[in-house]
Amino acid sequence: MIDIHTHILPGVDDGLQDIGEALLMAEDAASQGVRAMVATPHLYWHGRQALSAAQIRHGVGDLNTLIQAKGVPVEILPGCEIPLQAELLERLQRDEWMSLGDSGRAVLVEPPWGEWLPYGKAVLQNLLEAGWMVVLAHPERHVFFQRNLSLLEELVQMGVHLQVSTGSLIAGRSEPAAARCAYELMERRLVSVVASDCHGIKRRRCDLGEAAELLKRSYGQHVAQMLTTNVPRALLRGERVDLQQVWRNVPTDNSRWKKILRAVLRRQTDDG
Ligand SMILES: [Fe+2]
Repeated sequence: MIDIHTHILPGVDDGLQDIGEALLMAEDAASQGVRAMVATPHLYWHGRQALSAAQIRHGVGDLNTLIQAKGVPVEILPGCEIPLQAELLERLQRDEWMSLGDSGRAVLVEPPWGEWLPYGKAVLQNLLEAGWMVVLAHPERHVFFQRNLSLLEELVQMGVHLQVSTGSLIAGRSEPAAARCAYELMERRLVSVVASDCHGIKRRRCDLGEAAELLKRSYGQHVAQMLTTNVPRALLRGERVDLQQVWRNVPTDNSRWKKILRAVLRRQTDDG
């Protein structure tokens, strides 16, 4: 599996704070079958200087040296989580920011946490027209998307890929509204990729293996593998991703997914 959204690079944002924790996170991920993780730190974090692409490349290099020395079979790739903003394309073109894996044409874009931006669609459209592949980070966690799924449908029709977070799918790890939205997006076949967005080694840990098992039980082996391995790999290589291929052969069964969601929400309540 390949986890395209992680905060494993230590000491730069609200993710891990020291290199020992990063090693533990890599070991945990490896034990679940994750073979590559893209470090996607926030570019701006309170009280810290803005991160540059050069700093991220350097930090990831150091981290890989340590992980290899310890014999952990995971490769860390450089990347970043880019906030949706007006000058996004220009800053990418100036090489201030980087693509996922620093290898191709796919970028991870974080929607705003307040209101949707009036120019949001235009920014994403400009990126797509300039040849970038756009992955929208965890839309199911944002209230304006939860209330406006048709906006997400429009974005997917434009060619934007939706990344749902593992925590929104696994019982007890998210707000019920995020879980509801995540499963609704799954049922509408709008999700291209699942990633952990891991921030810690206990809370918000890398649980992609656990999510893959759950996806397999809910939607079958093909979808589980596409969402956690094949699509992430295609994005890193800059290869086209076809949503119909991702979701092929999965029957629409309203009662089935509602049953899954009910179980997730029930366990969330039980877990407190
Ligand atoms: Fe993130």
